[in-house]
Amino acid sequence: MNVLIVTESCFGNTRRFADAVVGGLTSRGAVVTVTAASDATPEMMNGVDLLLVGAPTHNRGLPGPASRRTAAAQGARPDVTGVAEWLDGMDEWRGRAAAFCSVSGTGFINGSAARKIVKKLQRYTIDVVGTENFLVGAAEGPPADGELERAEKWGASLVG
Ligand SMILES: Cc1cc2nc3c(=O)[nH]c(=O)nc-3n(C[C@H](O)[C@H](O)[C@H](O)COP(=O)(O)O)c2cc1C
Repeated sequence: MNVLIVTESCFGNTRRFADAVVGGLTSRGAVVTVTAASDATPEMMNGVDLLLVGAPTHNRGLPGPASRRTAAAQGARPDVTGVAEWLDGMDEWRGRAAAFCSVSGTGFINGSAARKIVKKLQRYTIDVVGTENFLVGAAEGPPADGELERAEKWGASLVG
């Protein structure tokens, strides 16, 4: 199974979750490519069996230019564009996908970038097979206890 993970990360936590998910996927024999959304090309979608898209939760949803500037002011190093722009610009694609995000709390008030990713994926002929939120201890991280392990298990669970 070929998996493409398209991700965005301002402080590095979502990228760490992506790497943990890779561990789970590869433990079940998947072949995985990880790319920052800003580096993703249309050709990367060729031959992909499962698309994973992951981002940090900003203002209850996906990062945008203003929230990336806020993150940069807090010491992050965001890319200029990310998952929202990539999903808005991607070519029509038919296949299976799953979404994940990092989030600093588990309440309704916290929102979920993963939920917004699912909404954007559903504009295409995509079968969404999973959604997961992974918790960070503070805005700049690190991942909360046990969350990297949970991300790895989630990755393994996606290989059926
Ligand atoms: C501008 C900004 C807005 C944020 N808004 C939320 C939010 O609405 N809900 C939440 O749980 N966390 C929020 N956070 C915390 C982020 O979710 C956290 O920084 C992120 O998960 C860390 O992942 P990263 O290292 O990949 O950027 C916000 C952080 C920033 C910088």
